[in-house]
Amino acid sequence: MISVAGKTIDTVFSQEEIAAEVDRLATEVAARAPRNLLVIAVLKGSFVFAADLIRAMHKAGIAPEVEFISLSSYGAGTNPGPIRVLRDIESDVKGRDVLLIDDILESGRTIQFARDLMVSRGAAKVELAVLLDKTMRRQSPIEADYVGFRCPDVFVVGYGMDVGHALRELPFVGRVVE
Ligand code: IMP
Ligand code: MG
Repeated sequence: MISVAGKTIDTVFSQEEIAAEVDRLATEVAARAPRNLLVIAVLKGSFVFAADLIRAMHKAGIAPEVEFISLSSYGAGTNPGPIRVLRDIESDVKGRDVLLIDDILESGRTIQFARDLMVSRGAAKVELAVLLDKTMRRQSPIEADYVGFRCPDVFVVGYGMDVGHALRELPFVGRVVE
């Protein structure tokens, strides 16, 4: 339990647990021998996970190209709106193996959109890696190919994830204790 900016935060997944899991995921990705791999981090929440995962991939012997996409969905929650591309990737995905990286798989709407987009552009294969999976919240029939942890149904922060644009800098995944 720590205190940041007047908020009390409980650890959900520690730095050490995350590091071990990231190494395991990179080994799993390497075991499937991706060809001409393009890694696409879905901004913003995935940037810390993606940074750690690509370095673990290097240790596992993979040399991916790295890209970023920024997506937004309006009116999330009970009245979800259309998903839009705020910032697109610059590379051609045609014929390539693509690995989408996201922080949390929740309803699955965002990542379903990203996967469909890459398939429509001719990617040979589109896989998905997420640090956290909130299985109980799924609305789209989508599963991740690589999952770090099953996440309890609580709002988590840190390790790139925010609450009101704050707390992305925490080196672990935590939850704000009211
Ligand atoms: P969905 O799968 O389309 O519902 O979107 C999941 C996205 O919502 C994640 O990539 C996060 O950016 C955000 N999100 C969902 N749950 C949390 C949470 O507990 N903390 C922070 N962001 C979250
Ligand atoms: Mg996200």
